[in-house]
Amino acid sequence: MLHFYRDDLARLASADRLRRLVPRAGADFTSNDYLGLGASPRLREAVAAALDRGVGIGSGGSRLLRGNDPEHEALEAEAAAHFGSETALFFANGYAANVAAFATLPQPGDLVVHDALIHASAHDGMRLGRAPRVAVAHNDVAAFEGAIRDWRSGGGTGTPWIAVESLYGMDGDRAPLAALVEVADRHQAMLLIDEAHATGVFGDGGRGLAAGLHGRENVVTLHTCGKALGAEGGLLCVPRVLRDMLVNRARGFIFSTAPSPLIAAAVREALRILADEPERQARLWALIGAAEKALGFATGSQILPVIVGADGAAVALAERCRAAGYDVRAIRPPTVPAGTARLRVSITLNVDETAIAGLAEVLR
Ligand SMILES: Cc1ncc(COP(=O)(O)O)c(C=O)c1O
Repeated sequence: MLHFYRDDLARLASADRLRRLVPRAGADFTSNDYLGLGASPRLREAVAAALDRGVGIGSGGSRLLRGNDPEHEALEAEAAAHFGSETALFFANGYAANVAAFATLPQPGDLVVHDALIHASAHDGMRLGRAPRVAVAHNDVAAFEGAIRDWRSGGGTGTPWIAVESLYGMDGDRAPLAALVEVADRHQAMLLIDEAHATGVFGDGGRGLAAGLHGRENVVTLHTCGKALGAEGGLLCVPRVLRDMLVNRARGFIFSTAPSPLIAAAVREALRILADEPERQARLWALIGAAEKALGFATGSQILPVIVGADGAAVALAERCRAAGYDVRAIRPPTVPAGTARLRVSITLNVDETAIAGLAEVLR
C-alpha cells in the first residue's frame, strides 16, 4: 500500500536529495536569527510580562471572529509606524503571508512578473491565485520591463505586479529596487517586495532595503518575524485598501485560527529592540566584514553561499563542517537551481570572530 512513498524516497536518496531532520549542534552558521534575538532576555521577558497581564496563549479563533486580540492590533499599528506603511496585517508566518498576498491581490486580468529565484511561498501563492504569471531572469531589470511591454502589446490591460525578494535568501544578493521602482512607475505596476532576509539587517532601525518605499501606493512589503526578529510571523505592510481586501478575501487569513497573541507580544518587543539596540545591527555588520575576509568573498550581506555544485559533494562538505563543530547545512535543488548545491553560510550574532575563523579553516 505504501510502495509509492518508499519508491519516491528511494529515488530521492539515489539522487542525493533525501532530506532528514538533523539535531541542532555546533556554532550557528545556518539559522536566520541574524540579530541573535531568538534567545534574547528582552523577548523572554516580554512574553513573561504578557502572560502576567493575561494575554492568552491561543487566540481562540479566526481574526474575523473571536480571535482578534488587542496584541495583534497593537502589533500591526506599531509595525506600520516602524516601517512607515499606511497599515500592516499580521500572519502566523511569512509563508502564510506570501501565500495570502499572491493568491489574493493580483486579479485575473493582471500579470505577475516575478524573479526566477523568488521564494517557494510566492510560487505557492501564485499557484492559488488567478493572475497569469511569468518568470524573468534573476535581477534582470530589462527582462521585467520587457515582460510587461510584451503583455501590454498582447492586449493586457490590468495591473502588472513585479515580485522580488529585496535580499535573496539563498544567494545573499540584492534586488535592483531603485530601477524596479522606476519600471513600476512607468507601467502603473505594483511592486511586491519580500524583505524576509533584509528586515532587521538593513536600513535605519532594521527597516529593510525597501525602507524609503513604504507608504507608496504601489508598494507592498513582507517583513517576516521568524528571522532577524527572533520570533515567528509575517507582517504585510500595505495601503489600507489592500489590508481591507486581505481581511475580506485572503482565505488563509479568514479560515484559520489567528496566531498566538503571545507571539504578537514578542514581535512587538522585537520591533522595540530594532529601534533601541542599533548596536546589534552594527555588531552584525562587523561580523559580516570578518566573514568576508576569512572566506575570501563577499555578497554585501549576511548570507554567504559557498557554491559546491554536485548535491552529494555539498552534503559531504556540510557534514565535515558539522563534525568540526560548525553547524552549516547543504542546500540542494529544488530549493536552488540544479548544479548549484551549496553551503548556505549565514552570519548571525550567535557566533563570534573565532568561530568564523574556525569555519573558514575547515572550508579551506
Ligand atoms: C524569502 C522568503 N520569504 C518568505 C519566507 C517564509 O517565511 P517564514 O519562514 O516566516 O514562513 C522565507 C523563509 O524561508 C523566505 O526565505
